[in-house]
Amino acid sequence: MKVLMVCLGNICRSPLAQGIMEQYVQQRGLDWTVDSAGTSGWHNGNPPDARSIAIARLHGIDISHQRSRLLVVEDLDNFDLILAMDSSNYQNILNLDVDKIHADKIKLILNYVYPTRNMAVPDPYYDNGFENVYNLLDKAILEIVKEH
Ligand code: 4NP
Repeated sequence: MKVLMVCLGNICRSPLAQGIMEQYVQQRGLDWTVDSAGTSGWHNGNPPDARSIAIARLHGIDISHQRSRLLVVEDLDNFDLILAMDSSNYQNILNLDVDKIHADKIKLILNYVYPTRNMAVPDPYYDNGFENVYNLLDKAILEIVKEH
């Protein structure tokens, strides 16, 4: 299975989500590919935010090699599961799906823990809420790997 994590900048939430899922995939010996992308392209080519790198490292995960990239329309074909961090990301991904054929594989990640609530992983860029983001993502991602 190929999983794509998506947020706005691809420097805070989705790189962390990628790193957490890669760790579970490795621990469980799953044949999954995990990647991440941003809907904005503002930080193209940049490493994750230092605060995301730090919180990942605290949990034994190295995400420092990741580089931000823009979400592209081909991602909708190439990935089996596309996970949005908030409803704005979700809508932006759906907007790329002009033929409306990929909606089934686009999900809000926290609906795996809080079904149908459409809860957001709060953007930590301005409020420093990286520990909260880590804990929410870890819960959701564990559910996803258990389900598949
Ligand atoms: P992310 O966080 O979407 O979780 O990567 C953000 C990163 C950068 C900005 C906003 C959110 N920004 O405004 O540059």
